[in-house]
Amino acid sequence: MSPFWSGWVIFLIVLNLGIALFLFVWAQRMKIPTQPDGTTGHAWAHGVLREGVRRLPLWWVILSAAGFVFAMVYLVLYPGFGGFGGVLGWTSAGEHEREAAENAARLEQVFAVLDEMKLDQVPSGHPVARLGRQLYLDNCAACHGTDATGRTALGAPNLVDGKWLYGGDPDTVVKSILDGRRGTMPPWGEALGRDGLVQVTSYVLALGTPAAETMTEGKARFETTCAACHGLDGKGNPALGAPDLTDEDWLYGGDFASVMASIRDGRSGQMPAWRGRLSEQEARAVAAWLYARGEKKPLARRVADETIAAAPSEGAAY
Ligand code: HEC
Ligand code: HEC
Repeated sequence: MSPFWSGWVIFLIVLNLGIALFLFVWAQRMKIPTQPDGTTGHAWAHGVLREGVRRLPLWWVILSAAGFVFAMVYLVLYPGFGGFGGVLGWTSAGEHEREAAENAARLEQVFAVLDEMKLDQVPSGHPVARLGRQLYLDNCAACHGTDATGRTALGAPNLVDGKWLYGGDPDTVVKSILDGRRGTMPPWGEALGRDGLVQVTSYVLALGTPAAETMTEGKARFETTCAACHGLDGKGNPALGAPDLTDEDWLYGGDFASVMASIRDGRSGQMPAWRGRLSEQEARAVAAWLYARGEKKPLARRVADETIAAAPSEGAAY
């Protein structure tokens, strides 16, 4: 505050408090002349009302005096008297810093457990898992669903079924979160032709059952075209993020048309990188929650997520 404004504020405070104090003291001391009947002699409403003389009630005097004392003590202790900062040295910025530091210390304490415990052993009720859940809901639910069971429309995988495209050890999962992932499945429609496409699709859907062994054309095409990434047995390759094609889980849907579309047109699921938006500790907290959530094997909320996806305000709801 510049000296001028400081002086101006001090002037106003002194003036206001001074006038109020003067009136207060003066009112106590002044004597109002009274008539023999004890009134001031003023008559109102054609003589029906006459103005009496009363002392100010004691409680009012005490309360007002206390008000003056409070105002002055406050101005001595806290900022308010122009540029004078108050003898306590309190500032709102200082208060904010103190609270921020307290918060940071509390967070530090919450995160500390991640150094002692493996990410996949944190129980779901632990504060760090609860923090992870909050971060998950803020950042990830729009794509992976509020309960982390994935969203087919986006190719965002289920994160709580214990199966992982890129591997499920804590370091790999945290790396997926911080650096992002981009799985690239090339389009094979032209190379395979219509018949080839149908054969391979049938073979992929039969993978893991005895029927697959009888589909010789599909098998041969799969082994020459697809096995390099998905493996001879179709179980996928975590180094490439090539999914296991033998299980019941599908990133993009498991009906004939969806699987054929995946093979014909290719797919490219993109997981954004969160480095810079989430700290390493925060990413680890989210991973801890995912593991803790996985223990419970939740499955039922998928329908609700798909419904939210169809709502016009997508994203805002999270
Ligand atoms: C824009 C949508 C989107 C958002 C937001 C998003 N993800 Fe993903 N995520 C994906 C997609 C798509 C994939 C699959 C990538 C692929 O196919 O290679 C993926 C993959 C992953 C994987 C690897 C899964 C595996 O099986 O190996 C993890 C872990 C993951 N996401 C966690 C998260 C977390 C945690 C967040 C929030 C901090 C998040 N994702 C936010 C779309 C998203
Ligand atoms: C260059 C490596 C590569 C080759 C070759 C490849 N794929 Fe893929 N495929 C992938 C990757 C990576 C994904 C995951 C894409 C994503 O994450 O969006 C994928 C996804 C798929 C999917 C979708 C799976 C799901 O869960 O929805 C199907 C089906 C599939 N591939 C079948 C095939 C078939 C059949 C062939 C051979 C004609 C083949 N792929 C060749 C890498 C490959």
